[in-house]
Amino acid sequence: MRVAIIGTGYVGLTTGVCLGYLGHRVTCLDTDESKIAMLRSGRTPIYEPGLEELLDQACPNLCFSTSYADAIPEAEVVFVAVGTPPLPDGSPNLGYLRAAAQGIADHLAGGFTVVVNKSTVPIGSGNWVESLIRDSYAQHHGKNLNGRFAIASNPEFLREGSALLDSLYPDRIVIGADEARALEVLYSLYRPVLDQTFAPPTFLPRPDGYAAVPLISTDLASAELIKYAANAFLALKISYINEIGRLAEKVGADVTLVAKGIGLDARIGTRFLQAGLGWGGSCFGKDTAALISTAAEYSLPMPIVAAAREINSAQRVRVIEKLLAELKILKGRTIGLLGLAFKPNTDDLREAPAFDVARQLIARGANVRAHDPIALERARHEYADCGIAFCESPADVADSADALVLVTEWPEYRDLDWEDLVGGMRTRLILDGRHFLDRSRLTRAGAHYVGIMG
Ligand code: UGA
Repeated sequence: MRVAIIGTGYVGLTTGVCLGYLGHRVTCLDTDESKIAMLRSGRTPIYEPGLEELLDQACPNLCFSTSYADAIPEAEVVFVAVGTPPLPDGSPNLGYLRAAAQGIADHLAGGFTVVVNKSTVPIGSGNWVESLIRDSYAQHHGKNLNGRFAIASNPEFLREGSALLDSLYPDRIVIGADEARALEVLYSLYRPVLDQTFAPPTFLPRPDGYAAVPLISTDLASAELIKYAANAFLALKISYINEIGRLAEKVGADVTLVAKGIGLDARIGTRFLQAGLGWGGSCFGKDTAALISTAAEYSLPMPIVAAAREINSAQRVRVIEKLLAELKILKGRTIGLLGLAFKPNTDDLREAPAFDVARQLIARGANVRAHDPIALERARHEYADCGIAFCESPADVADSADALVLVTEWPEYRDLDWEDLVGGMRTRLILDGRHFLDRSRLTRAGAHYVGIMG
């Protein structure tokens, strides 16, 4: 099928490359010329494991452009995957979505086109985009579209860092539309994934025992709500285990064992029960805020979601409390942060806990140094004036430091030369913000190990 994708961020680019790999003819569109130039030369503007390799393999089926005229007129399916960053009141900024709707309307031509919202958009946005396209088209072309397009929602569940696996081997695919023929088009588009008939890339083998993918076909509003409800639920799980973690510390229990003990109950599940600094990234914070803001439009409070957000913010403060309890004075101390990305295997720094922690430490007069195996360059560029000294190696961060805080659980941090690192510190305090490091190994290396939950 002929596909256009508007927006080459994590979602749009991954979707475009995967659909191209599956054999569809895909044009990826972005207004940022530098991104398009990079993609044309075979490089990706984001760090996502395997994406450049798959881009290379899908290359014959992919085009990159900054022009709606190149992408829209021929497309049978147009995905809208533009950013919806949060506004100060928690509601999402729909400016990019509006611009995309306008661009689509100006260039729609020919047969039936399905316009698919893949950005996480507030419930009701499908109807809104539909009316924008209809009105804009009538204004631009002086006639009505008369049933030549339909709107659908196809929420994305991919996680940064494992985006390709999540796209090729998803737990489920959700499509929502109020018109049956739009659902049929999306069904055909996803058929190779649904039936798993494609040959897996050599570096992304199909997981053992993985077979057909469940398809959930819904109305527009249900698909839109599924996305928010899924992200909010995952956020709740994390905040729940963090709340239990606080109690665990008081009563002398080990929260990681408690998580294992409850997670093995299949009704609860083991994933997203990792206690620590809490969630970051561009999704959970924004989506929980947007859910609360949508509910408020109906005068409906969402106390559970609101509590999850409060607990998450408090986890960042906990780092400062722990450091204060151990070091007594933060002024003039040197605190090293291991990890800047909001989670491992990505260079994404949006809402990354490291910067919340650094801000609070700097406000209290501490010197902050930080390292990240992948996101360092991006941090230097995007956070040039934040007051953090960015270091090339964990050893540079540890040298004469008063404490090291493990912020992001990059696998390589577990196997550092801890004897050497700890030996070079002024005060040998290691605060494990993710309950990730090997406590006994660190203790043997001479460190005073403290977990964020005790
Ligand atoms: C999340 C969802 O997991 C995806 O399903 C969804 O498609 C995506 O948002 C989105 O809406 O676009 P992502 O933000 O990439 O994906 O990352 P996650 O792996 O979900 O991690 C989110 C945050 O939670 C990270 O900061 C991570 O460190 C934290 N986390 C995760 C925990 O603190 N504990 C856990 O047990 C798991």
